[in-house]
Amino acid sequence: MANKYHIPVAMMALTLFACGEKKSEPAPVAAAAVSGEAVYNEKGCVTCHGPQGKGDGPAGAALKPKPRNFADAKWKNGTDLASVIKTIENGIPGTGMAPYKGALTDEEIKAVAEYVRKLGNKS
Ligand code: HEC
Repeated sequence: MANKYHIPVAMMALTLFACGEKKSEPAPVAAAAVSGEAVYNEKGCVTCHGPQGKGDGPAGAALKPKPRNFADAKWKNGTDLASVIKTIENGIPGTGMAPYKGALTDEEIKAVAEYVRKLGNKS
C-alpha cells in the first residue's frame, strides 16, 4: 500500500525541486549585503577619518575642526545608530563633513554608520 504512493510523491518532489532550481538560476547577486567597511574605504571616509577611524587621514590633517576620531566618547550629534545615520546624510555644516544623502544609497549609509560605530566601539 505504501508503495502505491511512494513513487508519485517522489516524482512530484523531484519536479518541484527542478523547477525551483531553474527559477533561482538567473537570480543576481544584488541581494548581497552592503559592506560598511567597503563603503568607508572606497567612498572617501578613510581619507579624512583614517584607516582605524582615529580622525588621522591625510585629507583631514589641515581641517578645523578635525575629522571625528570615532574612539572619542562623545560625538557632536550622538553615537546611536539613528543619529549617526542622520549625521552622514546631512553632514555637519561649517566643517569638512559633507552630506552624503544622494551620493550614497540608504543601504550604504546605514552600513557605513554601523561600521564607524564599530570602529569607535559604540554599542
Ligand atoms: C573631507 C574630510 C571628510 C570626509 C571625506 C568624511 N568626513 Fe566625516 N567628518 C569630517 C569632519 C571635519 C567632521 C567634523 C568633526 C566635528 O564637527 O567636530 C566629521 C564628522 C563625522 C561624523 C560625526 C560625528 C559627530 O561628532 O557627531 C561622522 C559619523 C562621520 N564624520 C562619518 C563619516 C563617513 C561615514 C564618511 C564617509 C561616507 C565621512 N565621514 C567622510 C571630515 C570628513
